[in-house]
Amino acid sequence: MSFKSSAVMITGSAGGIGGAVAEAFAREGARLALIDTRANAEQATRLQALGAEVLEHPADVRDARALSAAVEAMLAAYGRIDVLVTAAGVISSGPAEAIAEDEWQRVIGINLTGTFLSCQAVMPAMRRQRYGRIVTLGSLVARNGGNARPWIDRAEITRASNAAYGASKGGVHALTMFLAKDLAADGVTVNAVAPGPVATSMLADYPQALKQLIPIGRMMNAAEVAAAILFLARPDSAAITGEILDINGGVAMG
Ligand SMILES: NC(=O)c1ccc[n+]([C@@H]2O[C@H](COP(=O)([O-])OP(=O)(O)OC[C@H]3O[C@@H](n4cnc5c(N)ncnc54)[C@H](O)[C@@H]3O)[C@@H](O)[C@H]2O)c1
Repeated sequence: MSFKSSAVMITGSAGGIGGAVAEAFAREGARLALIDTRANAEQATRLQALGAEVLEHPADVRDARALSAAVEAMLAAYGRIDVLVTAAGVISSGPAEAIAEDEWQRVIGINLTGTFLSCQAVMPAMRRQRYGRIVTLGSLVARNGGNARPWIDRAEITRASNAAYGASKGGVHALTMFLAKDLAADGVTVNAVAPGPVATSMLADYPQALKQLIPIGRMMNAAEVAAAILFLARPDSAAITGEILDINGGVAMG
């Protein structure tokens, strides 16, 4: 068990990927702090049944004070914070000219600013400890201009992610590399995973034609993304930092 007694904070813990990450760490004996705006009633009980200590701290990742309070609560309970996984996020769909300014701000606010604020909240403790692992959630669409092919089927653009989402994830990739350099000398690594389409509620309506383009013949599943995140968070992954790890079933090969 690489994470026996490790203190792990997960934002978006009630979601598909965040939930799978929580479960994977719980199976490794980690102590968890779960951050989400959404209640996930049986989650804590399920994780405790796997042997994990669980601290639930409902918070919005756009709220720096709430995140600081969560870090304080975690330090009080566990004495340290070894890992942060930033899996809170929202999707947005539709053509760029139809994105209202409010929607743009909502997506950037949660996906990018929320990721930044979550990382900022744990940085002092990780630096003090001279140890930490941060894994952010980027995306394939930060690299490929989006999965939709509106020149073939206009409807795809209403059922796959849009420019606001892609720009937020491009920001997460850049942020990850900046923080990786900033924290490198202090024993803290910062990496991103960049999943292709993952079968969670976020992509419940993902077009069949786009699924068929994925060489492994299916969408990713949340447990596969969680496994990659745990790899990056391992103590012996100390030399991997500033990496954007693709998990896309081969679809990026084109
Ligand atoms: N599903 C995919 O295909 C896919 C692909 C690439 C990247 N991602 C990214 O992975 C992350 C997790 O996605 P998912 O598929 O698990 O989605 P999900 O909708 O299942 O989970 C997202 C979670 O984030 C929480 N959340 C939303 N706004 C929040 C806020 N302001 N503060 C705190 N929590 C908030 C939600 O309540 C939810 O529990 C997201 O950043 C997403 O962009 C997903």
